[in-house]
Amino acid sequence: MQVACHEISLAYRVRGKRLEALSDVSFRVAEHEFVCVLGPSGCGKTTLLKILAGLLQPQRGRVDFVGRPGNNPLTAMVFQDHGLFPWMTVLQNVTFGLEMRGVGRDEREGRAFPLLERAGLSRFTRNYPHELSIGMKQRAGLLRAFVTDPEVLLMDEPFASLDAQTKLVLQDELLRMLGDVPRPVVYVTHDIDEAILLGDRIIVLTARPGRVQGEFRVTFPRPRTLAVMHTPAFADLKGLIWRQLEEAVRSVARQ
Ligand SMILES: Nc1ncnc2c1ncn2[C@@H]1O[C@H](COP(=O)(O)OP(=O)(O)OP(=O)(O)O)[C@@H](O)[C@H]1O
Ligand SMILES: [Mg+2]
Repeated sequence: MQVACHEISLAYRVRGKRLEALSDVSFRVAEHEFVCVLGPSGCGKTTLLKILAGLLQPQRGRVDFVGRPGNNPLTAMVFQDHGLFPWMTVLQNVTFGLEMRGVGRDEREGRAFPLLERAGLSRFTRNYPHELSIGMKQRAGLLRAFVTDPEVLLMDEPFASLDAQTKLVLQDELLRMLGDVPRPVVYVTHDIDEAILLGDRIIVLTARPGRVQGEFRVTFPRPRTLAVMHTPAFADLKGLIWRQLEEAVRSVARQ
């Protein structure tokens, strides 16, 4: 299945005024492709993911899930702020999506426990989110999406609020987890290093209203490790992407 966005535009209404968030955004994500979306703050990245998840309807354009009968795949979204329910334990949070789909308790837990173990959370399954570190909450948020085995995985800066070292560890883990289960992934970030480390392709959006400004292919072989970040080719690509992103970021900073 491929994900195809055709000329998506969306404007919000804020106190009677139209606020254009996305304008004519088109791109495709191939069957096993990891696409990163980079863009300055407020350019519509979260809005775009919500449209892909079916949580928002664009006013113009459409999303097609090519090769998927019914055009209605199982998507899972990892939210920018982890999105855990504070009144549920880690285990309840991670298995919530399965419960909603009517999966019985034994199967829910059978699917969740190996993932919790792998993410270093098996001793915290009965803890509540406020009892976890930020990194642990982010990992639980990731697991909640992974456990449903979604056909399309949507991630909104899942590591943005982490310190640099924890972020590296989790990026490394994510590379390994995704290696096992190829599927279309759209991963929003404003970290160029992260986009190059994780992505097969990077789409750069302009400042709001977000439009596709450019696209970069990342050809480092997989499985990738963090070592790729120390290669000259990585630095060259980072320079190219920054040159494209810089004007958009500066225009947001001037506002
Ligand atoms: N529910 C909403 N109602 C009104 N305006 C909104 C709403 N959600 C987002 N916006 C506005 O739409 C624009 C795009 O927001 P969005 O959250 O998609 O940006 P973003 O690229 O994800 O930003 P960031 O990098 O800071 O997360 C912003 O100007 C924001 O203020
Ligand atoms: Mg956002």
